Amino acid sequence: MTGPLSVVVAGAGGYVGGELLRLLYQHPLVGKVTAHSRSQLGRAIAEVHPTLLPLTSARFAGGELTELLASHDVIMLALEHGESARLVGPLLEHQPRLLIDLAADFRVADAALYARYYGPHPAPELLPRFRYGLCDVVGSALLGATAIAAPGCFATAAQLALYPLRDLLGDAVPALFAITGSSGAGAKPRDTTHHPARAHNLFAYSPFSHRHEAEIVQSLRQWTGRPAAAARLLSHSGPMVRGIYLTLHAHVETALPPGTVAAAFASAYAERPLLRLLDKPPELTHAIGSSYALAHACQSDDGREIQVTMAIDNLLKGAAGQAVQAMNLALGLPETAGLSAVGAFPC
Ligand SMILES: NC(=O)c1ccc[n+]([C@@H]2O[C@H](COP(=O)([O-])OP(=O)(O)OC[C@H]3O[C@@H](n4cnc5c(N)ncnc54)[C@H](OP(=O)(O)O)[C@@H]3O)[C@@H](O)[C@H]2O)c1
Repeated sequence: MTGPLSVVVAGAGGYVGGELLRLLYQHPLVGKVTAHSRSQLGRAIAEVHPTLLPLTSARFAGGELTELLASHDVIMLALEHGESARLVGPLLEHQPRLLIDLAADFRVADAALYARYYGPHPAPELLPRFRYGLCDVVGSALLGATAIAAPGCFATAAQLALYPLRDLLGDAVPALFAITGSSGAGAKPRDTTHHPARAHNLFAYSPFSHRHEAEIVQSLRQWTGRPAAAARLLSHSGPMVRGIYLTLHAHVETALPPGTVAAAFASAYAERPLLRLLDKPPELTHAIGSSYALAHACQSDDGREIQVTMAIDNLLKGAAGQAVQAMNLALGLPETAGLSAVGAFPC
């Protein structure tokens, strides 16, 4: 690295964009942050993201993203689904040092698998340009990446629960029961995020079809080498604003010796600075406001059942925090730079 980094955030008016700004303004190795927004152009950033008031008096920028690339090292896209696929081609032609996309557009490398969950891919020729940025699994292997697809929020929690089990599951199809807070649906109001419909409520959605299953299954197949490996995401909307709480349950055919599951987690994540293994199931509020994943893993007395619980902040570990972690890893910066803040409790 030669000097402080400059980063442009596209879609900076949204929830994920706001969290990226919050992290990047406080990142010790980032010297310039440009907040690009189509909807908020010209407004003060702190008017839209009020907690940023002590950090910046700047305004949202507009204009062509390709032009901004000439004066920035990194571009992060926090745009609505499909927008990245439209923009990424011209952006990559300008050879940015690093592009990170936080939408789902480039997370699934196999266009056929993508099509099953999302419909035909609008830019399949660009899929091979991207690396999948599940940071706590790939770690320093991201060094040198120039285009990264940041995993989805449910998908992050699910895959972090699954990865250490990759050699233990056999033919089991794990159930991934997960609850998300309302900020997972973004800043624009919808029927399902309206306060009276969401507060004090809980409901399942997308049965047998949640889109994040595509990236979960993709990874599981890569890790196990089994083309038919599968997992089922049971997605729920919960009454909280932030966070994802996920419980994995699996029946395995062959009884596991005592301590196998705990040992697999300890070995998979021993060196990972932003994932903490607990000796009891985590509580969601303990992960909120931080870029840490909190996990607990155990097995039944007879060794035939596995249960893993995972708590993350959907906007941080599930989005902006992981994207900054990916930037750090790709550029060879200290992995936790700008990410060591812990949340507030109670929240
Ligand atoms: N929310 C999560 O937990 C989460 C987690 C992981 C990944 N993601 C992904 O990250 C991307 C952004 O998600 P998000 O939750 O930040 O969505 P969002 O809040 O709905 O923002 C999406 C886009 O809408 C625009 N926008 C924001 N406020 C607006 C307004 N009042 N009027 C018109 N446009 C407005 C923003 O672009 P401009 O500023 O350019 O107008 C932003 O790019 C999505 O692809 C999502 O799938 C989200």
